[in-house]
Amino acid sequence: MANNMIAVTGGMGYIGSHTCVALIEKGYEVLILDDLSNSYPQILDGIEKITGKRPVFEKVDLTDLSAFRSVIRSYDVSAFIHFAAFKAVGESVSEPLKYYHNNLVSLINLLEVMQESGIKDIIFSSSCTVYGEPDNLPVNESAPIKPAESPYGNTKQIGEEIITDLINTGGSGLRATLLRYFNPIGAHPSGQIGEIPQGIPNNLMPYITQTAAGIRDHLNVFGDDYPTPDGTAIRDYIHVVDLAEAHVAALQGLVVLPENSLKIYNAGTGQGYSVLDVIKAFEKSTGIQLPYKIAPRRAGDVVAIYADPSRIQKELGWKARFGIEDMTRSAWNWEKHFRDDLRWDE
Ligand code: UFG
Repeated sequence: MANNMIAVTGGMGYIGSHTCVALIEKGYEVLILDDLSNSYPQILDGIEKITGKRPVFEKVDLTDLSAFRSVIRSYDVSAFIHFAAFKAVGESVSEPLKYYHNNLVSLINLLEVMQESGIKDIIFSSSCTVYGEPDNLPVNESAPIKPAESPYGNTKQIGEEIITDLINTGGSGLRATLLRYFNPIGAHPSGQIGEIPQGIPNNLMPYITQTAAGIRDHLNVFGDDYPTPDGTAIRDYIHVVDLAEAHVAALQGLVVLPENSLKIYNAGTGQGYSVLDVIKAFEKSTGIQLPYKIAPRRAGDVVAIYADPSRIQKELGWKARFGIEDMTRSAWNWEKHFRDDLRWDE
């Protein structure tokens, strides 16, 4: 039985796999729990190529409590990093029950398993979507939570509430960190792991790289009449490697806290970029001209959001290292490597 493992649910996914690399690089033993519903087993090879270590992998659906329980009984897990969730905003609007069931039952099962087995520490993947359209920018962690724009966003809000309620009982002994991600993009600089969207990408960066690869005809820029300097919407894009390292910092900070502690951190850079800024950064960092057209606004999009990341910097000493061109360049490297060399059946 391996000692003191960090269980990473959804560890085969985009942010999860990068976090496994960051954990292994810091000497942690990693146990990946993933049902492969939106990820590929080959990611294990990528993690091994980068780190020289192959994490332990268990294929398990966390909504199946007895299967989940029996896996956890076989390992000595000291903490959970909980990524496993569905995340397509549009799909959550058309299939809300699928989202509420998967995202919330998984979390509830996870918290039950933690209580049964005496595991105290959890890092929960939350999202800046909880702030809606913020009243003040940059947005800090004390900003009000706004009504969710989608069932997906609601599962993140409810997830935060479930964890908070449990800690507020005073008897759970849990230590939890809610990490509110801004917009993670990019890939590991090795090109060995990265984002693999299913079907037509919803998110900006994979749409850009697939357009550059000739898979899509052009990028649609959703709205150029927003009240921003160039009329396109503004987000805080964060390199996925920086975000992965934020999880390691959060874990190191969490385990030294007293029991029944809750921490909430923005995981962003503090810098806002418009859609046109991202296109320019992509073109500059890769030398590729990106075909794009202005299209109508997308329903549910906020105008502008970027983080005040001062709390996580002050309390955990974490700060994003990479700039926007590192993000766009690494995203393109991954797209090329994936298309040219890996060619899994998507
Ligand atoms: N965009 C385009 N064209 C595209 C895709 C996106 O112009 O083809 C624009 C969007 O309108 C937005 C920006 O690029 O202005 C970023 O869009 P993403 O879809 O990449 O990211 P979002 O900010 O919409 O999504 C993020 C998180 C979700 C979260 C959502 C809440 O990825 O998890 O914020 O709105 F739910």
